[in-house]
Amino acid sequence: MSSSITSVLQENRVFEPADSIKASAAVSGMDAYNALCQQARDNPDAFWGERARELLSWSKPFTRVLDESNAPFFKWFDDGELNASYNCLDRHIGTANENKAAIIFEADDGAVTRVTYKELLAKVSQFANALKAQGVKKGDCVIIYMPMTIEGVVAMQACARIGATHSVVFGGFSAHALHDRIQDIGAVAVVTSNYQMRGGKELPLKSIVDEALSMGGCEKVQSVIVYQRTQTAVNMVAGRDHFMAEVMAAQSTECAPEMVNAEHPLFVLYTSGSTGKPKGVQHATGGYLLWAAQTMKWTFDLKDSDVFWCTADIGWITGHTYVAYGPLAAGATQIVFEGVPTFPNAGRFWQMIEKHGCTIFYTAPTAIRSLIKAADSDESVHPKNWNLSSLRILGSVGEPINPEAWMWYYRHIGAERCPIVDTFWQTETGGHMITPLPGATPMVPGSCTLPLPGIEAAIVDESGNDVANGAGGILVVKRPWPSMIRTIWGDPDRFVKSYFPEELKGYYLAGDGAVRSEDRGYFRITGRIDDVLNVSGHRMGTMEIESSLVAKTDLVAEAAVVGRPDDVSGEAIVAFVVLKRPVPTGDEANAIAKELRKWVGQDIGPIAKPKEIRFGENLPKTRSGKIMRRLLRAIAKDEEITQDTSTLENPHILSQLSQKH
Ligand code: WT7
Repeated sequence: MSSSITSVLQENRVFEPADSIKASAAVSGMDAYNALCQQARDNPDAFWGERARELLSWSKPFTRVLDESNAPFFKWFDDGELNASYNCLDRHIGTANENKAAIIFEADDGAVTRVTYKELLAKVSQFANALKAQGVKKGDCVIIYMPMTIEGVVAMQACARIGATHSVVFGGFSAHALHDRIQDIGAVAVVTSNYQMRGGKELPLKSIVDEALSMGGCEKVQSVIVYQRTQTAVNMVAGRDHFMAEVMAAQSTECAPEMVNAEHPLFVLYTSGSTGKPKGVQHATGGYLLWAAQTMKWTFDLKDSDVFWCTADIGWITGHTYVAYGPLAAGATQIVFEGVPTFPNAGRFWQMIEKHGCTIFYTAPTAIRSLIKAADSDESVHPKNWNLSSLRILGSVGEPINPEAWMWYYRHIGAERCPIVDTFWQTETGGHMITPLPGATPMVPGSCTLPLPGIEAAIVDESGNDVANGAGGILVVKRPWPSMIRTIWGDPDRFVKSYFPEELKGYYLAGDGAVRSEDRGYFRITGRIDDVLNVSGHRMGTMEIESSLVAKTDLVAEAAVVGRPDDVSGEAIVAFVVLKRPVPTGDEANAIAKELRKWVGQDIGPIAKPKEIRFGENLPKTRSGKIMRRLLRAIAKDEEITQDTSTLENPHILSQLSQKH
């Protein structure tokens, strides 16, 4: 494989959706799509209200759809009441779904466990009762730091059942990152696991929770509940720590769901922004769940017989909307996978699709690219070795999919039969925003095509004026939608500043650049316009990594972090570091770089480790002291500097930083 897999192949080919999908699709053909868009535009309240009544069960029906009186703090269905867990579980009891598998769980080692909707409801209810017995009540916040397991989903659903707001922290984040989130949200309980199994390795979780709690400021945490994933013992603090199985065993398998207002915060999920501190993105119960259920139908054309598989971890928004909530709200059978795509070998995904008869497969471009690479170098893990004929629909999420990877996915996984839904969305949007519909939209590789009905996405200039097709600009959403972020937890000012800047006429600012094609008006996302990187589909703030580097006060004086295009991970992290000692070379440079990478891994998490670190006696700065990041981006790519450097105070620094040690 050459560097061409991330290059921008000029793609003019158009792929029509297969007739077999179109024939029975929820939205069949472009006329049906356009009619829905028109309905949403003509009478948004009627459009959204109808969907909310059709797809969700309300204990108290709403009479108002959208309340814009305190924009941009929009409220949806806000005099209605419901419970998210009721809508995901109880709603299916007494229907044909009752004994249907809700989750087919495949462990890292290949062991399979199935739970039906009825069984899942019993588990969730039992754990919900256990949380209540620990003193957790409606309005409290619970941190979930769990591996991909049935129990992880149970913990989320149980919080929703009792009206507690959960905040899931990805199992790859460090004690420090976990501590900050526990503190920021004011958690009263932490649900974790003794260990997690990934790629045949047993990795600690509980000891990281202990470390986080020992950092201080987490006094509100009353209890830590520990799922025993493996047999290995962990330290348990008497009075504070309890095993999940033990606290559940004492409880009834019935728990009346706590009905909450539609605007009640279902969860807060932290994500990176352009400043150092991650933002707690707050989502509301009603609007979020509506969009989770609706997009399962529209984007994935979910049918009763489907076996749905979203490979995302519950620690990210994709794992919230398309593992923990959407598939259950829609009554799907879904696969939950504990492990990694390359263990025991890079054929694992394809083997699992065959084994479980997966029909809808949803993954990230970075995974596809790494599996292309593996298949190219080892025939035995090429997808042709497995029978993938069960597949109907393929999905992509998290970053732009380059046309080369799209074509491979289309040919080798979908056998040119399965439409690919390239879904553009964000932690803040709650669910899909711009995506092809599998039975309607002609696809162009590398383009996420058109917004979903009701989503008024547009491309504007810096004053908020529409730009013509073909001209790039800033991606915005002009009208509110039900699953949008409600606020940043504890920081409403930052919410307004980050997402509704004054100059943009009240539009929602996504933070991405985009361009629409001249012929079809299709959207193509060109990448973030802020200091946010996308590494393997994971969002990382450059400032977050810089703060971590300079926190190594014994060594580092200053640091600047930029992204560089990368064949597999999409973007790679490159750090430029000024040390409090002379610029190192050779072995010394390597040793310090290693130490710094290790530090960032411990401080934030392994996903934040810079791929490359370069040292200099200074950073390129303007006379006013501003770091010239565009020059650093060029140096990181090993490009010759052809840009204007006249405002640069210290030009000699460029050649120094161009040196690899
Ligand atoms: C950022 C959001 C969407 C859930 C997972 C990531 C990028 C996401 C696409 C896509 C091009 C995409 C954007 C966005 N992104 N999906 N299909 N095509 N770019 O959620 O961590 O909140 O990141 O991911 O840059 O702003 P997230």
